[in-house]
Parts: sequence; C-alpha cells; structure tokens
Amino acid sequence: MDKIIVLDFGSQYSHLICRRIRESKVYCELLPYDTPIKTILDFEPKGIIFSGGPASVYEKNSPKPDEKIFGLGVPILGICYGHQVIVDHFKGRIKRVINREYGNAVLKIKDKNNLFKDIKSNNIQCWMSHSDTAEIIPEGFDILGETDNSSSAAIGNRERKIFGLQFHPEVAHTENGTQILNNFSNVISKAKSDWNMNDFIESSIENIKTKVGKEKVLCAVSGGIDSTTTAVLIHNAIRENLTCIFVNHGLLRENEENIVRELFKEKLGISIKYIEAQERFLQKLKGISDPEDKRKIIGEEFARVFTKFAEEEGPFQWLAQGTLYPDVIESGVSKGPATVIKTHHNVGGLPSWLNLKVIEPLRYLYKDEVREAAKILQIPNEMLLRHPFPGPGLAVRILGEVTDEKIRVTKAASKIVEDILSEDNIYNKVWQAYAMVGDDKAVGILGDKRIYGHIVTIRIVESKDSMTADWVRIPHRTLERISSKITNEIENVTWVTYAISSKPPSTIEPQ
Ligand code: XMP
Repeated sequence: MDKIIVLDFGSQYSHLICRRIRESKVYCELLPYDTPIKTILDFEPKGIIFSGGPASVYEKNSPKPDEKIFGLGVPILGICYGHQVIVDHFKGRIKRVINREYGNAVLKIKDKNNLFKDIKSNNIQCWMSHSDTAEIIPEGFDILGETDNSSSAAIGNRERKIFGLQFHPEVAHTENGTQILNNFSNVISKAKSDWNMNDFIESSIENIKTKVGKEKVLCAVSGGIDSTTTAVLIHNAIRENLTCIFVNHGLLRENEENIVRELFKEKLGISIKYIEAQERFLQKLKGISDPEDKRKIIGEEFARVFTKFAEEEGPFQWLAQGTLYPDVIESGVSKGPATVIKTHHNVGGLPSWLNLKVIEPLRYLYKDEVREAAKILQIPNEMLLRHPFPGPGLAVRILGEVTDEKIRVTKAASKIVEDILSEDNIYNKVWQAYAMVGDDKAVGILGDKRIYGHIVTIRIVESKDSMTADWVRIPHRTLERISSKITNEIENVTWVTYAISSKPPSTIEPQ
C-alpha cells in the first residue's frame, strides 16, 4: 500500500491534512516532526508533508526535521511553517511581517502544472494564517503562485519535487484545496489510491488473530459506534475468546439496556454479559451535585464493577478499547505527538493493576472511517445513526443531585424529543437531541389545581465533530408538539424551554 506521511510541527490542522489525503484513498499517517530518518524510511513514504505550526524558523529551538530528509529524493510539500522550514533549509530568507496575515486571500496561480494541475481558474481563494513570509526564495525554486501580501505564496523546485505553500490547502476555506493535496499525493508523489476499508478490515482481523492468539479479551460495550465496531472486529477474529460486557449504571436512555442487548444478540450474533449495577451507582451519587464529582464517582464505580467482573470471570489477558486516531496522536509539538494510550473516557480510567494488555483495533481510524468500517461490518443502521451519548449518561443531563425523580423525567422527555424528531424527519439531520432537568420549578395548572412542577429544557444541536456546535432552528410546529407531549404525558412537568446557546461559549452537555 502506498503511503504519504505528514510530519507534525504543531498545527491545529495537522490531522486535517492527514484526513484529506485519506479521503482520496491514499493511506496517510501523522508522525512527530523529529521522527528519525530510519523510521521514516521504514514507512517507505511516496511523499512527505510538513504541517504548519506556531513557531518561527529563526526562533531558538524551533522544530526542525532531520536534515537528511531533504536528500531522500522523496517529494516534499511544506505548508505554512513547513514551507518556511524548506525556505530556511535551502538558504532562502524568511521575514516577519508586521501585520499578521489571517483569513482569505486571492492566490494568483502562475504554474498550472504540478500542485495546481487541473484547477480551472487562474485565481483561487486561499486561507492564510501566518506571521512569517519568504522574502527571498532559495535557488532552484520558482514562484508558482502569489497573493497581494505574499509574493511567494506557492513555490517549488520541480526537479527535486520540493514544494511550499504559505496558505493552508487542507481547510475548507481554500478553494480546490483537496485537489492541490491530491496533486501532491497522486501526481507529484505518484501514490496510488489503494487505501480501502475492506482491506483494512481484513488485515486488522488478521492482526488481532496473530496478536491475541489463544488468549482472552475483555471489551466493555456501550452501544455506541466505537465500542460496537471494536467488538465486532475482535469477534470476527477470535469469536468466543472475546467477552463483551454492558454495564447498566441506571443513567441510560429509556430502554437502552434492552435495545443494546437485542441488537448485539439478534443483529450481530454477539452475546454480551449484562451487569445490573443501577443500585450501586445511584447509591454512590446520593447527595452529590457538583458535575466533576459526579463524573469522577461514575468513573471510579465503573472501574470497580469492571475489576470485579475480570476477577470473577477471568483471567483475561487483553482489554479492548475503541480509541480513535486523534486520541492516539495528540497533535501539537508542545504536547509531543506521543503515542500515549488513553483510557476510554466511557470506561472512566481503569486501574493499572488490572494488568491487561491493551488492544485498540480502531487506533488508525478517524470517526468517519469508523462509520465506513461499521457499514461494511454490517452494523445495523439503528446503531450507526444513533446520536452520541455520554459515558456518564444522564448524570450530565441532570443538573444538581441525581434523583430517581429527575431520572424519570429526563428519560421520558428525551424519548419524546427523539420520537418526535424521527417522526418529523429531523433526527438524522442533527448531531444530538435530548431533554435535561434541574432543580428549578415553575407553577402550572393541572385541571383545576395549581401545581409546582419541573422545568424541562430541550437541547438540539448541529455539529460536524462536536468541537463546535450550534442550536438547531427547529420548526415551531415540532417544538410545539414536543412541548405539549412532555407536559401532557410526564407527570409533574409544567414548563418546557429550548436551549439557544451555541458552543462556544456553551458546551453540548450542560454538565
Ligand atoms: P461537550 O458537552 O463537551 O460535549 O460539548 C462534546 C461531545 O462529547 C460528549 N460527551 C461525553 N462523551 N463521556 C463521553 O463518552 C463524557 O464524559 C462526555 N461528556 C461529553 C457529548 O455528548 C458531545 O457529543
């Protein structure tokens, strides 16, 4: 399989470059900027991309790649800071601009081959975000494109196949950005588009078989897409040597425990061990109203339940986790793109003395790729299209202390929200939708009686990746149906409100 590697100099967009390359079916991995040349050679990359980054090349200790990289004969594309690394290495000159250039600029293309092949227009919008620019370009390099503020916005040494872009082709604001990256990977680097999910699944099943052998794997499933796909891949590899557990902490969506058990059994043919733990979780949460305390208690309790199971039903040698690529590779030089294995936040931090080896079959995948894998593995749509649900469950949607009464109200109201959105064909178009409840109450009239009941707040958001989100402009008719069904059918609810805060400054979950 042909590969492109991206060396990460700390840009917030490093993962995005990698994703864009993979979208054109060329396999791409993100590596730290200072990856030794030997490791780079082991990858046999067809092309290497230097990402952007916050540093300036003339700063003391600014990140630089192993110099030998320039002598490999492998095509190189530098983006933003990466572009300046190239200019600096080949003895050009960088200068600090007084006004940091940030935002849209028009790139006038001067060479319609190489990076700009098949781009029809001579002028394209590009996205700049830098404070340094190449003042003198190195010998052997030509200007391939310029903007009003940057006469060397795109440069290249065609013979050595080394190119630099001052702007960011990976962000959506750059017109034809994906084409530019594809031109680098497919045309200049001649990488074949042969990365496909079917092959990934096959080789990942083979890898699991070899790695695990006859040993036993334990996997906690939540019904979410990541843990389900992890379980299915491992199940395909080792069958009964995989044990899946599902913990009911009493803070699940309405009927979730049955839906998940049923889907695993009927649709996936995987049996899961159900652990009834409502009592112990809810007991521990009594009297606790601080959001972080609630999360911590749930995490710790989960670890206890899990450990008890492993001791009683084990021994297990492996713990399966649904960790994704962005969690494995923390982008950014300051943090060091270390391969720190994170405990799945749904599992809440398992004690290291559990002494299990960790297996993470999704560790090379992005979320959209997991969805693609899940489809191929025939994970049913009911699961694929389900909205994300937080590990600590309703505890983060109940403001203040978690009580049976509030659980009853949130569960029933969230079910109504989901049902009505499905009926009105909105459910699949939004990122998340649910109801929350706190301690605030308001007066209402029930028959002839005045009652003092709960205020339920509805939150419906749209988002691409949950990093930012906006509240959905739901048709009034749908809101009206949700509101009246909630007050009519759920005892002790008198008011319904709609949350109209975007993220930032709010978050998706209230706690
Ligand atoms: P926030 O509230 O931070 O949520 O805007 C972003 C996304 O993450 C989910 N979320 C969690 N998921 N454990 C999880 O597994 C958690 O503790 C947790 N907190 C928030 C949230 O539902 C949203 O999709």
